[in-house]
Amino acid sequence: MSKRKFLFAANWKMNKRVSDVAPFIADLNRELELLKGKVAQDFEVVIAPPATHLLPAVDSSKNTAIQIGAQNCGHAKSGAFTGEISPQVLKEIHCEWVILGHSERRHLYLEDDARILGRLKAAWDEQLKVILCVGETLPERKGQRTTQVVERQLQILREASGIPEDRLVVAYEPVWAIGTGENATPDQAQEVHQFIRNWLKSNFSNSASEKTRILYGGSVKPDNSQELMGKPDVDGFLVGGASLEVSSFLGIIKNAFKSRG
Ligand code: PGA
Repeated sequence: MSKRKFLFAANWKMNKRVSDVAPFIADLNRELELLKGKVAQDFEVVIAPPATHLLPAVDSSKNTAIQIGAQNCGHAKSGAFTGEISPQVLKEIHCEWVILGHSERRHLYLEDDARILGRLKAAWDEQLKVILCVGETLPERKGQRTTQVVERQLQILREASGIPEDRLVVAYEPVWAIGTGENATPDQAQEVHQFIRNWLKSNFSNSASEKTRILYGGSVKPDNSQELMGKPDVDGFLVGGASLEVSSFLGIIKNAFKSRG
């Protein structure tokens, strides 16, 4: 069994109101505490709400095991970048995590690898922890190009001049599985996760490969999380739809216990 701490990250996308934040975090925290301290030992839980919700989320999660993340960040500390979120200010408000390269950013807002690399460097400059999303579209999978696409998306890590091992998480999110109800099978997920781990080993080091958590994302629900979590290179999940209710997000976490003890 791996020694990596499992990570469950909730990607709320553009959902929920600011007034939902405090009750959600209080309810989730109450339930997590009932897991008898296991969260602190073996699991980390991150909630990534919309940017408008970050400050109250950070406030509400003080003295809990829940950490807060942003869904994106800008490539500079400050400047004339309308609509962007400063990584420096994320750090200032104690938002410690940021999701980068989500497929919705790549496909709906046309963020390319060069753009994501700029954001990645800026996030790491501020000591933020990054969840870097990679994943292929359906035509790419059908065309047997999955690992080729994932490898291209991972290349930015080489260009970032060294990875801080404790501040990188990779999320494998096949685009065809996001929000569709159709998840990758455990074997499909394991195959790509193993590819990513081997890539980290050959491009960086044994230790980078062993320490980096690789999350699966794409229609994760309580009833498929146990089987997915049974795979050796699946270290947790990035959850969209099922993270919007405490009961389903918690169900995913609890099922991981069943799978890995
Ligand atoms: P989903 O989203 O769980 O709703 O498929 C996952 C994600 O986009 O991170």
